[in-house]
Amino acid sequence: MIEGTIVKVSGPVVSAEGMAGAKMYDIARVGELGLIGEIVRLDGETAIVQVYEDTSGLRVGETVMCTEEPLLLELGPGLLSSIYDGIQRRLTDIADQYGDFVVRGVSTDALPRDRRWTFQPMVEEGDEVEEGDVVGEVQETTHIAHRIMVPPGVSGRVAQVKEGDFTVDETVVTLEDGTEIKLHQTWPARVARPVKNKENPNIPFITGTRILDTFFPIAQGGYSIIPGGFGTGKTVTETTLAKWADADIVIYIGCGERGNEITEVLAEFPSLIDPKTGVPLMQRTILVANTSNMPVAAREASIYTGITLAEYYRDMGYNVALMADSTSRWGEALREVSGRLEEMPGEEGYPAYLATRLADFYERCGRAVCLGSDDRVGSITAIGAVSPPGGDFSEPMTQNSLRITGAFWALDTSLAYRRHFPAISWTKSYTLYLDQIQEWYTRNVAEDWRAMRDKAMSLLQKEVELQEIVQLVGPDALPDFAKAVLETTRMLREDFLQQFAFSDVDAFCSLRKQYLMLKVILTYYDCLEEVLVQGVPLRQATEHPIKNEIARMKEVPSEEAEEKLSELLERVQRELRSLGEW
Ligand SMILES: Nc1ncnc2c1ncn2[C@@H]1O[C@H](COP(=O)(O)OP(=O)(O)OP(=O)(O)O)[C@@H](O)[C@H]1O
Ligand SMILES: [Mg+2]
Repeated sequence: MIEGTIVKVSGPVVSAEGMAGAKMYDIARVGELGLIGEIVRLDGETAIVQVYEDTSGLRVGETVMCTEEPLLLELGPGLLSSIYDGIQRRLTDIADQYGDFVVRGVSTDALPRDRRWTFQPMVEEGDEVEEGDVVGEVQETTHIAHRIMVPPGVSGRVAQVKEGDFTVDETVVTLEDGTEIKLHQTWPARVARPVKNKENPNIPFITGTRILDTFFPIAQGGYSIIPGGFGTGKTVTETTLAKWADADIVIYIGCGERGNEITEVLAEFPSLIDPKTGVPLMQRTILVANTSNMPVAAREASIYTGITLAEYYRDMGYNVALMADSTSRWGEALREVSGRLEEMPGEEGYPAYLATRLADFYERCGRAVCLGSDDRVGSITAIGAVSPPGGDFSEPMTQNSLRITGAFWALDTSLAYRRHFPAISWTKSYTLYLDQIQEWYTRNVAEDWRAMRDKAMSLLQKEVELQEIVQLVGPDALPDFAKAVLETTRMLREDFLQQFAFSDVDAFCSLRKQYLMLKVILTYYDCLEEVLVQGVPLRQATEHPIKNEIARMKEVPSEEAEEKLSELLERVQRELRSLGEW
């Protein structure tokens, strides 16, 4: 047992002497209360521990015990629908036992110990198994089968298989060399779980949000950031995606945001019904919650806890969506601890290794062929909110994230102010996944999907130029063709891009509906151009009542979209063109 003595306490950072033998990232129990911390620096026999809990009252001279193990997570059935803090303590259990505040030094079982799960074996005695192979299944929730896998690094011939009801601690498969495979395994949070190889991300991650799917799509296994100033819609976007996006499992990390905002998520999620299956959304969700009033160091860990949970479900072959709100608070935690460690500060006081840490985190996402002989493919798609102070995207967190991520969904304060939601800017956002997933869209949505998207984008860019002219000379000076562009882009903004996250019908828009909506608007534009050439006054065309029906396209349920919007498309062509026929 390595036992040292506290010589210095500085906020969440504690120095302890007499810690010879301790390793980097070992977990230590600090002081009489046994506060949980992690060794982040070793200097001779002195260990520096970042403590995940409030250190007030801690005295020099108290003992520090090194557990000689890193931060290990428990992975097994019972994870889904749990609410954890940054170091995988079950917040619900703590609340039941100790009341609403986390009592210091408390540890809880990450997985319920008394619950029995029905294990359905999928191997037989004598079978050869390798790391990652599925030895059986447990029905974890109504729709999610939890695959019990041979842990990484383990292989051999099966000597014994059990069938029936077991707790997570019981052995279900024994190998000939005596290795016992239980319903749960443990894994160090800071280490990426191995995969066979990473796949090219070429399947889109469908969100049901039009501006994202049509203009700035990402791939399954891709990663994107949502930077935005105060109140621009980061949390609403993250939760909307958690509800609607195309993922089997959702890991939601509430990282350092205000307590009441996370409480809203915690209160809202358990009552939500999964729109796809009709069962509570929590059945496929794990929440990792760390509010701004919880100790700063635990926030740093919450990101790793979240991604390790995501990797575990990816290894089963599931598509996992990981939401982190907000990665800036995680960066601030790094900054604070780094400051206490008296490290050389980099830009704006962030540690010099900020970029590497961010890259390490996002690198753990992706679409991968999992370990195991059946070549399962799973993915982790990450969406990280970034909260730049003052909405200034040039600050280090936004810039460093931007260099790594494949897509940038920029929230615009002026759009939010005008209540154009989602306030995602179509001029500042970008995605690098477009070319990779184009083929999928062509095959599954429409041949001319990319052409439509590019045309709409170029009209929206044109609008920016035209608006500059309007500001100089007034709208009346514009020629009719330019006015037709503005009329169309107004339609694109109001009738296509605006999408109310709280609407029953419109919160999720199918890809086919998105395509048809866009097609109707662009056809309207083509017809405007045609009749203008024929000498029809613009007013007459733009006052046509069909405009009101275009404005109501959003209200068409996705199932009826094909029929109703195809019909509308045909009417737009017929009725507008008839204007030119007199
Ligand atoms: N897609 C949307 N549909 C409807 N309303 C929205 C949408 N996005 C944002 N809003 C509105 O904007 C408000 C603020 O959004 P949100 O709380 O997500 O901002 P935030 O960026 O997370 O802010 P903070 O920086 O304070 O965390 C919401 O309460 C909601 O009224
Ligand atoms: Mg927020």
